[in-house]
Amino acid sequence: MIDGGGHGGVVEGVGRAGATALLVLATLLASACSSPLPDAESREARLYAQECGTCHVAYPPHMLKPAMWEMQMGRMALMRRQRGLPPISAADEKTILAYLTKHAG
Ligand code: HEC
Repeated sequence: MIDGGGHGGVVEGVGRAGATALLVLATLLASACSSPLPDAESREARLYAQECGTCHVAYPPHMLKPAMWEMQMGRMALMRRQRGLPPISAADEKTILAYLTKHAG
């Protein structure tokens, strides 16, 4: 016998603890996923999360280059129109784009 045996109970115990740890980790990750924006408490970040986090998560600003954010803002204005939502005000759009550009990748 290579395996001395008698370890079954121990392995099973570790397995159960591991499963619990994984569940805790998954819960933590799920809650962390929606939050960390740069300067999360600033007015710009809140506005961004509010206006751009309704149909999908507010994507992290570093995900795109400034020029690509500008392009996405135009596309998203179209998305809103297609869904019958009122457009974001020009001032708010400017604030959001400035925020995204400042933290862009
Ligand atoms: C009316 C719903 C709606 C709102 C509000 C909205 N989006 Fe979107 N957005 C979508 C949909 C639907 C897609 C996926 C389809 C697509 O990319 O053509 C998308 C995709 C994106 C993508 C592309 C993601 C990728 O993987 O390529 C970016 C970036 C984005 N949105 C940014 C924004 C920003 C910035 C705002 C705020 C100005 C915003 N969205 C607000 C509906 C919305």
